[in-house]
Formats: sequence, C-alpha cells, structure tokens
Amino acid sequence: MKILVTGGAGFIGSNFLLTSVRERPECHFVNVDVLTYAANLANLEAIARSPNYEFCRTDITDPAAVLEVFARVKPDLVFHFAAESHVDRSIVGPSAFVQTNVVGTFNLLEAARRLDKAVHFHHVSTDEVYGSLGAEGLFTETTAYDPSSPYSASKAASDHLVRAYHRTYGLPVRVTNCSNNYGPYQFPEKLIPLMIKNALAGKPLPIYGKGENIRDWLYVEDHCSAIWAVHERGKLGETYNIGGNNELTNIALVKTLCTILAEVTGKPESDYTGLITYVKDRPGHDMRYAIDATKLKTDCGWSPAETVHSGLRKTVEWYVQNQAWVESITSGQYQSWIETNYSQR
Ligand code: NAD
Ligand code: DAU
Repeated sequence: MKILVTGGAGFIGSNFLLTSVRERPECHFVNVDVLTYAANLANLEAIARSPNYEFCRTDITDPAAVLEVFARVKPDLVFHFAAESHVDRSIVGPSAFVQTNVVGTFNLLEAARRLDKAVHFHHVSTDEVYGSLGAEGLFTETTAYDPSSPYSASKAASDHLVRAYHRTYGLPVRVTNCSNNYGPYQFPEKLIPLMIKNALAGKPLPIYGKGENIRDWLYVEDHCSAIWAVHERGKLGETYNIGGNNELTNIALVKTLCTILAEVTGKPESDYTGLITYVKDRPGHDMRYAIDATKLKTDCGWSPAETVHSGLRKTVEWYVQNQAWVESITSGQYQSWIETNYSQR
C-alpha cells in the first residue's frame, strides 16, 4: 500500500511516521511537507533511510506540485496532517491558515479525485471546530460547528470540503476531530512544551487570563493509534472524535508540570511554581473543550494507553533530555517572529 502523509515533519506527523514506518514494512510512506518553522526533518532521523520511507518537499498550496506528487506516487491512502496549527499565530496572521488549511486541503482533494483509482483520504482535524463548551456537556460528532479563531474556522472549512467531496464525488474519506495533543517533538509555542522550556530556563510561565480554561489532553501516540483504528475499522464518510477523558484547567496542568519537573530535575517545586505569571487573555479564547469518544470506542475498539500523569511524565523527561532539539528548533526564523509578535514573553 502506498501512503502519502502530509505534514510528516511536524509534531503529530513525526510521531505517526516514526512508529508507522517501523511497524508497517508492507506499506510505503511518502512524507509530503514544505518544512515550515514547525517542521524538523531531524525528528525522522531514525527512519530516514528506511526502504519504505521517502521525503518529498512539497507545498500543498501549490496545485501543480500537488498534482505532480499524486501522479508520481499514485497513493492508495492519504493521511492529511499538514496545517498551520497554532491558534495564537492565526490571530496575528490568519492568511497562511486559509492558504494551507483550506486551499491546501482543497488541492489535495482535487488531486485525489482526479487520480484514476480510489484514494482513501483521512483528514486529521481538531475538536476546536465545535467552539467552546460551558461547564457541562461533551463534544459529540453531531455537535454543531461554531469555530472561534481563524485557525479553527480554517479547519472547519477544510472538514466541510472533505465531507463534500465524499457526498458529491464519492471520494472515500474519514475525518477525525481530536483534542489537545502533547508529547515529544511538539514545537515549544504550545502550552506544555513552552512551559517546560521556560521552566528549565527560569523564565516566566505565562498563563492566559485566570488559567481557568479547560482542555482535554491526549498523549500524541494515542492520537496516532486512534488514526490507525479509524482507518482500519471506521466507516467511510464518517467522523470520529478522539479524546482521552483528561480534562484539566490550564493552571492545574501547569502546576502538575511543575511537580513533575521538580521530581525529574531534583529541584524544589517552588523554583518552578514561582515562575507562574498571569498575562493578558487570548482574544476569542474558548473556555472548555471535552470530547465524547464513545463512537470511536464502540465502532473501532480504541481507547488511550496513557493516563495524563504517565504521558506528562514521559513528555517532561523527553524535553529535559532533548534540550538541544528545543534549542535547534527555536533559533533563527522562530526567534525573529517571536520577538516581533510576542514581546510579553
Ligand atoms: P505542526 O504545526 O507541528 O506541524 C504541521 C506540519 O505541516 C509541519 O511539518 C509543516 O511544515 C507542515 N506544513 C504546513 N504548511 C504546509 C504546506 N503548505 N505544505 C506542506 N506542508 C505544510 O502541527 P501538528 O500539531 O503536528 O498538527 C498536525 C495536524 O493535526 C493539523 O492538521 C492539526 O490541525 C491537527 N491537530 C492538532 C492537534 C494538536 O494538539 N497539535 C490536535 C488536533 C488536531
Ligand atoms: O484542541 C485541539 C487544538 O489544541 C489543536 O487543534 C491545535 O492545533 C493546538 O494548537 C491546540 O490548540 P490550543 O489553543 O488549545 O493549544 P495551546 O497549547 O496554544 O493552548 C492550550 C491552552 O493554554 C489554551 O487555553 C491557551 C492556554 N495558553 C497557551 C499558551 C501558548 C496559555 O495560558 N499560555 C500560553 O502561553
């Protein structure tokens, strides 16, 4: 089976390829990625020379380049991860989000439907398309879309395009909407790796607003196993929510990280909790996300392997042991961008 993986040099795509290439030698994986600031090919060093893996630097916003890759590879299956993924960046500069997440997805769908074979298209999406929950309730697959940020609006648009290609052209698609991921190789602008990075450097830990917003955290490898479960046992044309039943307020999460950091480094916990700083809130900040993953469990037999504590412990240990990775990915392009846009940090 020939499998095209878009965005395979980013956080989730890297984790997905690192296990999939090794565990599925019968599949040939083509990693299509343009290598934005969030990508790092060094993540994939362990599989880079595997006979069933190749990298193809391609911008999915370029329709001719996308058609060329599809014509050459003739994929049986596409796992579409590539995106601009960071909400704060979408607030500062939404244009790239529309280009990559909407137009890029459209280009891939067009290339898939024009190939003279059935190309299974798995769209990796987010729970943020559903907007914000109040104190009660969970997102199900039938919750109405109500995106708040340019990022979530662009992902909502791409979800609609994917489903439209199923209904209109019969493209065999599956959509997954997942909660907040964490784990190795996540770019340190997202909450968890940013807090670990800053804590290790003795810098402030910026908490937006009162820190009472709630996210439902899932270890990245559990997201990857869920994607395979949906591909293998999910129904065509269907949507599946993915989540870990791990709701935490941001402040509770950051305090837990401080506890784990103290355990791992041997320093007093107060060295880390003392860095917690409340800063101006994110505009349009969704209050609470929480996933009902019953359909995924019932139809596909999936459940997460990690608890939030075991996953966070693994994650903190990985970042403590891989500070050179953090240094390499945060130097250069990212630094100048952050100096312009994130002076409060
Ligand atoms: P990421 O930002 O770490 O990686 C995105 C990757 O896409 C990078 O390698 C980047 O180079 C590539 N890319 C961006 N623009 C491209 C373009 N025009 N052409 C080709 N490649 C391009 O993102 P991530 O956190 O790994 O997220 C992957 C997917 O999962 C996204 O679609 C995101 O919406 C979705 N998702 C993420 C989370 C999360 O918590 N991170 C949760 C649910 C869903
Ligand atoms: O829910 C899935 C989504 O999770 C994915 O689709 C997105 O790609 C991913 O970035 C993530 O979005 P969030 O906006 O929830 O993640 P982020 O790590 O940016 O923020 C998590 C929470 O922490 C959110 O409530 C904002 C808050 N926060 C974030 C940062 C970066 C802070 O309080 N301080 C910070 O410095």
